[in-house]
Amino acid sequence: MKLTDQTILITGGGSGIGLGLAEAFKKMGNQVIVAGRSQSKLEMARAKGFETLTVDMTSQESIEGLAKEAIQKFPNLNCVIHNAGIMKNEKLINGDNAEAATDTVLTNLLGPILLNSFLLPHFKKQKAATIITVTSGLAYVPLSMTPTYCATKAGIHSYTESLRFQLKDTAIEVKEIVPPYVQTHLMGERQANDPNAMPLDEFINEVISILKNNPSTDEVIVQRAASFRQAAYKGEANYKEMFNSRNEFLLNARKTEWDAL
Ligand SMILES: NC(=O)c1ccc[n+]([C@@H]2O[C@H](COP(=O)([O-])OP(=O)(O)OC[C@H]3O[C@@H](n4cnc5c(N)ncnc54)[C@H](OP(=O)(O)O)[C@@H]3O)[C@@H](O)[C@H]2O)c1
Repeated sequence: MKLTDQTILITGGGSGIGLGLAEAFKKMGNQVIVAGRSQSKLEMARAKGFETLTVDMTSQESIEGLAKEAIQKFPNLNCVIHNAGIMKNEKLINGDNAEAATDTVLTNLLGPILLNSFLLPHFKKQKAATIITVTSGLAYVPLSMTPTYCATKAGIHSYTESLRFQLKDTAIEVKEIVPPYVQTHLMGERQANDPNAMPLDEFINEVISILKNNPSTDEVIVQRAASFRQAAYKGEANYKEMFNSRNEFLLNARKTEWDAL
C-alpha cells in the first residue's frame, strides 16, 4: 500500500481509532474522508480539516448512499478503512440481547461487507486500491462477556481472508488491522481511562510504523495483539488455558458491571 496521495474513506472516523488513523494518514499527505453517524463528531472532524460524509452502518440504504456520494464527490477514492464498530456486554442467560446482537452484526459484520460490494466496482477501475478491515485480538480469543462482538470480529477476519484471495490477481490490496485493548470510548469512560488499555497514540504510531516498514503486509498486528493472533498456533491446550484464564480474570475484574446486567 502506498502511504501518500491516497484518497481514503474511514467509517467511524470521528472518534477513537478511526480519528487517530484519519489524522495520521492526513499528516502523511493523503486525502481523508471521515464517515460517521453522529453529527457532532462529524462537525469536530470538519473543524480538523477533514471532508465528512454521513452514514448509518446498520442501514443498507445509507451504506449504498455513502458509497455513491463518496465516489461522486471523490472520484480518486481508492482506499476504505472499515473501522466503525460497536461493542456491548450481553448476558446471554437473560434472553434479552436480540437488539444488541442485531445492531452488532449489522454494524460490525454486514456493514463492511455491503460497503465493499458497493465500492468494489469503483476500486476495480483504479490503478491501485486498498481495503482495510479492523478486527480485534478478540476475533482470535473471544471475551465471553461480549459474545456477538467477538463473533463479528472473527467473521470479519474470515471474510477478509476470502476477499484477499478473490482479489489476489487484481490491483486491490486487502489488509486487516488487529487492535489489542486500546484506550477509546468503545465501551465507555472506563475503557478510555483504563491504564491496562494501550494508549491510543501509541497504538496509531505502531500501526503506521508497521505499514511504513512493511507496506505489503496482509495483517497489521501490534505487539500487544500478537499473543491473541497467535493463540491457536501453540496448540489446543495452550489456547484453552489462555481463553479460560483471561475470561475468568476479566469476569472477576468487571464483576460489578456484569452483575448489574
Ligand atoms: N478500542 C479497542 O480496544 C478496540 C479493540 C479492538 C478493535 N477495536 C475496533 O476498532 C474500531 C473503532 O473503535 P474505537 O475503539 O475507536 O471506538 P469508538 O471511538 O467508539 O469508535 C467507533 C466509531 O464507530 C462509529 N459507529 C458506531 N456505530 C455506527 C453506525 N451505525 N454507523 C456509523 N458509524 C458508527 C461511532 O460513531 P457514532 O458514535 O457516531 O455512532 C464511532 O465513531 C471498532 O471496529 C472496534 O471494534 C477497538
